[in-house]
Formats: sequence, C-alpha cells, structure tokens
Amino acid sequence: MKIIFLGAPGAGKGTQAEIFSEKLGIPTISTGNILRAAIQAGTTVGLQAKALIDAGKLVPDEVILAIVQERLSRDDCAKGFILDGVPRTLAQAQAMEDMGISIDHVVDLEVPDAVIITRMSGRRVCESCGAPYHVEANPPKAEGVCDHCGGKLVTRKDDRAETVKERLEVYHSVTEPLRQFYGERGLLRTVPGDKGSVEDISAAVARVLGV
Ligand code: AP5
Repeated sequence: MKIIFLGAPGAGKGTQAEIFSEKLGIPTISTGNILRAAIQAGTTVGLQAKALIDAGKLVPDEVILAIVQERLSRDDCAKGFILDGVPRTLAQAQAMEDMGISIDHVVDLEVPDAVIITRMSGRRVCESCGAPYHVEANPPKAEGVCDHCGGKLVTRKDDRAETVKERLEVYHSVTEPLRQFYGERGLLRTVPGDKGSVEDISAAVARVLGV
C-alpha cells in the first residue's frame, strides 16, 4: 500500500500517518520530521531549511526530492509506505511521477482554516521522534512525555499564530492544486478531517483505503 496524506498544516496528516503506519506495518516518511532532525543535527540540509521552516515557507523542491528518493530506496519501503507532507508542490508531484514512484491512494484531509488555527495553539510534538499530540484532543498518557519513545514534548517554533497564517497561505496557493493533479489520476480520497475525534477520522480514512 503506497499512500500520500495531503492536507493543510495541522490537518492531522502526521497523526493519521502514525496510526496507519502501525496498522499496515509500513513506514511513514515525513519530510517535516526529516528536516527538523536535520536542523537538530546541524547538517547542511538542516542549515538551509531552518530559516525557511521558521518563516513558514517551503524548502526547495530539489532538496525535498533528494530526501524522498534516498528514503524510498531503503528496504523497509519495499512493501509500501506513507508519505506525510510530500509532495506539496506540483513540481514535486510531477517529479515523483517521472521517477516512477507509484501511488495507490491520496488521502486529502479537509479542515477549515479556523479549526487549524485553534488546533495549532494546542499542539505539542516529541522532540525525539516527532510524534504529534494535542493538549486536549490527543493528550499523551503522561504530561509532557512521548508515549512512544519517552521523549520530551515541545511546541514547534512554526506553530506561532503569524507563521501558521503564512503556512496556510502557502498551502492554499501552492499545495491545494495537487487535489486536481491526483483527482485527474483517480487517486484522490477526500476525508473531512474535522468531523470527530482522532479515532473517528481514522475510521473514515480506513473506509476510503478499504482496510
Ligand atoms: P510539516 O512538518 O510537514 O508540517 P505541515 O505539513 O505544515 O503539517 P503539520 O505537521 O503542521 O500538521 P499535520 O497535518 O501533520 O497535523 P498533526 O497530525 O500534527 O512541514 C513543516 C515545514 O517543513 C513546512 O512548513 C516546510 O517549510 C517544510 N517542508 C516539509 N515538507 C516539505 C515539502 N514537501 N516541500 C517543501 N517544504 C517542506 O495535527 C495537528 C494538531 O491537531 C495536533 O495537535 C493533533 O493532535 C491535533 N489533531 C489531529 N487530529 C485531530 C482531530 N481529529 N481532532 C482534534 N485535534 C486533532
């Protein structure tokens, strides 16, 4: 099963990707998490990405495509994978298609901007593994501690209100056209991402994936 999770920042892509990664036994490739790890490690890619991410802008397509190509070449992707947050420009989608990366389903989580802004103010992420939580909607078992790896939960710098606004603008102008791209290929599965709890949305995603 090869799946893309599409949707605005904060639509719940990472939350659902993690659930379906476990359920289907396939890895999630989150370009956001890979870039944040590169920033923490102080690599060349991390240094290049930091200012862009903090400002809510996109990282150049060639950097993203190199990350995706390298990650998908690993053995654990042989049975399938989940792409979380990539592609998010038409150039990335076209380049991935040209590379021969085939996709079975593109799950588009639709969430209104007003809901996104409220969600982001309560989001916490694990600084070690990147797992997302929400202080009310999806809290960890122990406050401030990741359920999966025991890492410390922190607030992402790009979740500040003014940066979220910029990320939403970038999403609407640059990423939203991917709906048409994948719709034309018969791959788009739209799921309302704000109609219920994390579990309710998972049930809706499972229905469109047929799992
Ligand atoms: P990235 O990390 O991918 O961020 P994003 O796409 O903006 O998405 P988020 O991680 O913010 O949100 P999400 O949809 O995963 O939502 P989540 O599950 O956490 O990218 C960061 C940056 O890296 C980009 O801005 C860009 O600079 C760069 N980048 C990355 N990929 C790139 C690419 N391909 N090209 C160029 N640049 C790239 O959920 C959000 C919150 O809501 C959480 O608190 C969660 O607990 C809560 N929640 C989830 N579901 C529900 C529910 N049903 N009800 C209530 N709350 C819920």
